Amino acid sequence: MLTNIVLIGFMGVGKSLAAKHLSAKLSRPIVSTDELIVAQEGKSIAKIFQDHGELYFRQVEAKIVEAIADKDNLIVDCGGGIALNPHNLELLKKNGIVFYLSASAEEIYKNVKDQKHRPLLNNTPDPKNKINELLNKRRPFYEKADHIIDADGKTGEQLCVDILTLFNKAAAK
Ligand code: S3P
Repeated sequence: MLTNIVLIGFMGVGKSLAAKHLSAKLSRPIVSTDELIVAQEGKSIAKIFQDHGELYFRQVEAKIVEAIADKDNLIVDCGGGIALNPHNLELLKKNGIVFYLSASAEEIYKNVKDQKHRPLLNNTPDPKNKINELLNKRRPFYEKADHIIDADGKTGEQLCVDILTLFNKAAAK
């Protein structure tokens, strides 16, 4: 069995970018939980939140995690809220090493400010403040990852190197 590489962390920290580099380097497929949700529901994340609310989105997300947890050899690019449900993390750790990409609120704001597809940040008058507030609430959940990677100011390539260094050490044990 080939252990999955699972990337968690706040919106805009570079999970998808790091996943692309890891996938190219290791020739492993990427699975994005958000992309699977969008494909399954036939609508954008924003529309799912708008039509059914966040709770429904979290239920769909948890089902997707269950399906992924049985697979191996994947790079798993997780939506930013996945770690908030301890059961999700437990399942993902069953056959995966979980990396938390940790970035400061300032860096996150810089990365997301011109993007429009995240309902939790787009429908708020003060996204900077919202990022701070959510990040402070979520940090203890994210920190339950197997490894924490400082993502501030790093390129996708640098994140990939940091992740692989830790992953290869763990795999050699
Ligand atoms: C969310 C993060 C998003 C997406 C949804 C909710 C969150 O994924 O799952 O908008 O709660 O942090 P990204 O982290 O890929 O933006």
